Amino acid sequence: MVDTSDAWITERTGIKERRILKGEGLGTSHMGAEAVRGLLSKTATKPEDIDLLICATTTPDYVFPSTANLVCDMVGVRNIGSFDVQAACSGFIYAVTIATQFISNGHYRKIVVVGADKMSAIIDYTDRATCVIFGDGAGAVLIEPAKSTNGIIDALIRSDGAGAVHLHQKAGGSRMPPSPETVAKRLHYVHQEGAAVYKFAIARMAEIAGEILTRNQLNGSMIDWLVPHQANKRIIEATAERMGISMDRVMVTIQKYGNTTAATIPLCLWDYEARLKPGDKIILAAFGGGFTWGAVYLTWAYDGAKAANGHARL
Ligand code: COA
Repeated sequence: MVDTSDAWITERTGIKERRILKGEGLGTSHMGAEAVRGLLSKTATKPEDIDLLICATTTPDYVFPSTANLVCDMVGVRNIGSFDVQAACSGFIYAVTIATQFISNGHYRKIVVVGADKMSAIIDYTDRATCVIFGDGAGAVLIEPAKSTNGIIDALIRSDGAGAVHLHQKAGGSRMPPSPETVAKRLHYVHQEGAAVYKFAIARMAEIAGEILTRNQLNGSMIDWLVPHQANKRIIEATAERMGISMDRVMVTIQKYGNTTAATIPLCLWDYEARLKPGDKIILAAFGGGFTWGAVYLTWAYDGAKAANGHARL
C-alpha cells in the first residue's frame, strides 16, 4: 500500500502484526461487546448486577448515541448509566479514574470499564507515517470495592489542549462537519506529527508515572509491573528507563496489536494476567491526543493464573 519495509516498521516502532476489524457494518461496539461478554462470563457476573458501564474510545460507532449505550444493549445490560470517555490513547486511564471515584464514594459496586477502538476507520492507508502503527482492539475490566488492602490506590490525569495541533482528526466534528470537500482532502483521518508526539509522550509518561511513585513513597525498583500505553516500543523503553524499571517488568504487546489507542492497557493486562500475583505493585501509564496523559497505581487483587483460566477469583 505504501513505500515502507518490515525492517523500518520493526526498528522504529517494534510492531510486527496488527488486528483489523473486518465485516460490513461493524463498529467499535462490536469489539467492546465481545470483551464485555468475556469479562462477564469469566467473573461469573450477571448483566443485571452491573451498576455502570464506561467506554473509553476515540472511534465511537456514531457521534451519538454513545458506544457505551450500544455495548450495554448488545450484552443485555439494561437501565444503568453508561457513557463514553474521549481522551484518545489515555482514555482507559481516564475511565478507570472516573470509575474509581464511584466505587470509593460507595455509589456503585460493579463498574465495567471498556477500552475499545477501531482505528482502521480513521487511518489513511496512503499515509505511511500513521498507517503502519495503529490497529483495532478492545479490552474490558470489572472494578469493584476491594476485599483486601489490594486494589486501585491512586490515579492522576492531565491534559494540554495546545497539543491538538500535533495529533488530531480535522474533519467530522462540529468545527468542520463532513462535506465532499473534507472527504476529497482526506481530512477524516488521523493527522500526526510523529516526532513532536514522540518527544512529549516520553517526557509526560515518565513524568506522571514518577509523580505517582513519589506521592506513594515508591521508586521504580519497588514496582512489579509497568503497563505503558503501547504506541511505540522505543517510547516504552525510554519511559521504563527513566523510571528505573527493567524491561522484564514491563508489559509489551505492541508487536502483536500495534497501537490500539484506548485498548492497549486492558489488552496488556489480558495478555499478562496469568503472570500476576496478589499484591503485585502495578503502574498503568498513558499518553495520547489532546494532549492527554495519566497514571494509575494499583496492587493486583487476584491470583492471575486462576483468573486467566476463568476460575473463580480469590
Ligand atoms: N516507512 C518508511 N519510512 C517512513 C515511514 C514508514 N512507515 N514513516 C515515516 N517514514 C519516514 C519519514 O517520511 C521520514 O523521512 P524523511 O526524513 O525523508 O522525511 C523518516 O521516516 C523519519 O520520520 P520521523 O517521523 O522523524 O520518524 P520517527 O523515527 O520519529 O518515527 C514514528 C515515526 C511515527 C514511528 C514516531 O515518531 C512515533 O512513534 N511517534 C509517536 C507516535 C505516538 O506515540 N502516537 C500516538 C500517541 S498515543
